[in-house]
This record gives sequence, C-alpha cells and structure tokens, in this order.
Amino acid sequence: MKIIFKNNVKEINGETLFVVVSSKNKDEIIRENGVKALFLKCDESDKMNLRKLFLLVRKMIVVAKGVKAERIAFNFNDFRFKNTNLSDLELGEMIGSQLDFANYEFTDYKTPPEEGFNFIKEVFVLGATKEIENAMLKGGVIADEVNKTRTLANTPGGDMTPKILVEKAKEAVRGTTVKVKVLGEKEMEKQNMQAILSVGRGSDEESKFIIMEYLAGPKEEKPIVLVGKGVTFDSGGINLKPSSSLFGMNMDMSGGASVIHVMALVAKMKLKKNVIGLIPSVENMTSGKSYRPGDVVRSMSGKTIEILNTDAEGRVILADALTYAQKYDPEVVIDVATLTGAAVVALGERATAIFTNDDNLSKVFEEIGEKTGDYVWRLPLWEEYENEIKGNLGDWANVHNKDSRDGGAIYAAIFLHQFIKGFKWVHLDIAPRMTSMAGENLAKGALGTPVRLLYKLIERTQ
Ligand code: BES
Ligand code: MN
Ligand code: ZN
Repeated sequence: MKIIFKNNVKEINGETLFVVVSSKNKDEIIRENGVKALFLKCDESDKMNLRKLFLLVRKMIVVAKGVKAERIAFNFNDFRFKNTNLSDLELGEMIGSQLDFANYEFTDYKTPPEEGFNFIKEVFVLGATKEIENAMLKGGVIADEVNKTRTLANTPGGDMTPKILVEKAKEAVRGTTVKVKVLGEKEMEKQNMQAILSVGRGSDEESKFIIMEYLAGPKEEKPIVLVGKGVTFDSGGINLKPSSSLFGMNMDMSGGASVIHVMALVAKMKLKKNVIGLIPSVENMTSGKSYRPGDVVRSMSGKTIEILNTDAEGRVILADALTYAQKYDPEVVIDVATLTGAAVVALGERATAIFTNDDNLSKVFEEIGEKTGDYVWRLPLWEEYENEIKGNLGDWANVHNKDSRDGGAIYAAIFLHQFIKGFKWVHLDIAPRMTSMAGENLAKGALGTPVRLLYKLIERTQ
C-alpha cells in the first residue's frame, strides 16, 4: 500500500473512495456527482478512546476492501479525538501502521483471481504536516515487519521447518548489520543443550538454534535479549494432541517469528542499542526417537527436567535458550511464546499474559501495550506455585499436576523462572494473541504480536 500526501482534494484524481468519519448510526456509501464517499460510523467524540480508534482506522480499510475499492482518501484531522491522549506524531504513526495491518491478507497459497487480489493500493491523506507524514510512513515500516511476522506464522508446517525458519531469519535482516549465527544439533550437543535436543529428537527435521546479534549501542551497554519459541509444528509428541487441537500448531513458532522481525525492524530503524535475538527451533513430533513421558533431561543449566508431558515442550526448549541468554550479561531478557492454552482460558483472546520479576517493567509494558494495541495483562510469579512443579526424579517437572489444567499459564512461567539467574526478565505468553478474532477488523490467521510492543519498548530505552 502506498501512502500519498495531498494538500487539496482537487489533486486527487481517478476512481477514489473518499472516507469521512461521521456520527451516523451506520456505515454508508454515497455516490454523488461522480464522487463516491464512505461515511464511517463512529462514536461521539467524547465516547471515543484509543482502543476504539484502532478499530475505526482498520474498519476504513475493511469496508473499502468490501466494495473492492483500490484507492481511498481521508483527512488526517478526522481521526483526532481528545480522549485518545496521543500526540500528532503518535497518531500519525498509529494510523500509518494500522492501515497496513488491516490491508494484509495471507494469499501465498491462493491462485490469484483474474482481476488480482483485493487490496487497497493507494491511500491519499489530506491535512497532514510534514512531520505527521513522516510518522505515518514510519508506521508503515513497522506494520511491514508485523505483516512479515504474520506470513511466517501463517505458512503451513511442512513449508516452515526449523531449517526454513533459519533461512527466513537471514532473509529478514539481509542488508542490515544484524549478524545471524546458527547452531545445528552437533553444536548444540557441544553446548549441552539437551533440553532443546530432546524435544526435537522425534522429528526428521534438524533442530536449530538461531542467534541474531545487533550491536549498535555503546560497547559497555548491556544488551536486551529477546527469546522466541520456534516450534515449527507442535503435534504434542508422544502425548499427542487431540485432532481438534492440532490445527493451527504450525503457528507455534509465532514467538520466534516476532523476534526475527523485531530484530529486522530495530536494525532498519538504526536504533542505537545492543539487541540479541535467540530462537530455539524444533519440530515436536511422534516417532520411535521421540522423547518420552518419564524421561529426565539434563538442561544446559545443569538442572534436570522431568518430562511428565511431551506437549509441554515450549518451556523445555526455552529453558536452554534462557540459560544461553545469560552469556550476554543482559540488561533484560524478554521471552515470547505461544506457551499455554491455559493463558487463553485465563484471558480469552484479547491480551497477552505477561509475567515479570520487575514491577516497573510490568507497568512499562502495560502502558506501551495500550499505545500499540498489543495489550498485556499481568499474572503472578509467586514462589508458592513452585511446590507443584518440584520433580519426583528430576529437579523440576515440566507440568504441574498431570490431570489438572488449573493455573497452567502460571505454572509454565514458574517453570521458566527456575532458569533465570540475576537479570530482569519478562515472559510474554502470546497464545491468546496467536490468531485474530472476529470483530477485530483483521484478516483471519496470525497477528504478529508483539512486534509493535517490543519495538516501541526498545525504541523508548534508547
Ligand atoms: N503450543 C501449545 C500451547 C498453545 C495451545 C498455543 C493453543 C496456542 C494455542 C503448548 O506447547 C502446549 O501444548 N501446551 C499445553 C501444556 C500442557 C500439556 C500442560 C497446553 O496448553 O495444553
Ligand atoms: Mn505443546
Ligand atoms: Zn507448543
């Protein structure tokens, strides 16, 4: 989508849908004197807020696509509402980003119709200053990485193996100063990463550990380390998932995909920061080689993990990745994972579950979450919960009580907490935000959460 800035309506020619934000009680398209206008229904000004504004901007695209418009025009000032508490630049960036976010659809596996796919090709914007224009274009760059994250996650499991994820990571940062190193199974053996190797053992695909380094900050500044779960297909392993739960498990690398594209974005924006991305990538399969319930695995940290359920594989691979993170003497480690169905039970599909050992970071994430639309909600990391994951044979069990789903998102976080040593840590369970839900004015499938959230966080600490 191309954003084109105009000073005057008269400069806009060709078949264009003019969008006007209105207080009518429904969306309405009117054609008069050869001009087509969409009156976009919106709450009265004093009832508007930022959450509703995200939806409104996206609705403009969805309605326009619905009538197969290819070009739309609107006035920036129509989207100013006093209750949203955004500066002009923040508003510009938000609109620029949400337009592209809403225009996305995953069509890679579809035969194009004769008239081409139905996308908005050009957006004419009136009433924007030079600064707002730049902010809108920046929003577009951010959305581009969000959408690329969605494409990686939407890709079927057979075409998104650990090896292919490695290629995609390299491709994502080509032309930037990000260095990509990859550990294969042999190298992981040398590093004693038995937790990752165990989970990947049942697959014919080689497990990979992707390391992305962006060092553009002061030498002495400790890096931010991002860790993303990269399970390219989660069958559950020997604890095979029931049929209904298998569908969508190609997206179990969503956390890894988001880390890849945050790295790309941070580099493209030339932020003066040190940022590391770590992505343990495996396929969790059933075979004669699979790890078994009852196995005890020695993790890279030296602590042993008693496998009670092979479907709780995300926390097992993250254990080694979090241990590896320690090598960087990090300022903070942030892991991102489609970790538990229990997080979806707890929150529904509207927010990422956040866990952290730092109260201030919790507040910062919450605030940036509101501003980016990557909403987060905190759950506890209390020590008391450790009782239920103490291992019988090993140090820590990978699930709490075999037959209970109670508090599952928390127990997963408490398990990860055992591998955190002496640094600030944030765990984002993005299972609730893996796919879009009806009414969000977004295409079905992957969402690209939390690329915006992490990018804005890193940008802010600059
Ligand atoms: N990848 C799943 C979690 C998941 C489920 C993400 C649905 C997105 C949508 C994870 O590996 C998993 O299987 N978790 C189990 C844990 C259980 C065995 C303790 C779950 O949530 O059921
Ligand atoms: Mn699983
Ligand atoms: Zn999983």
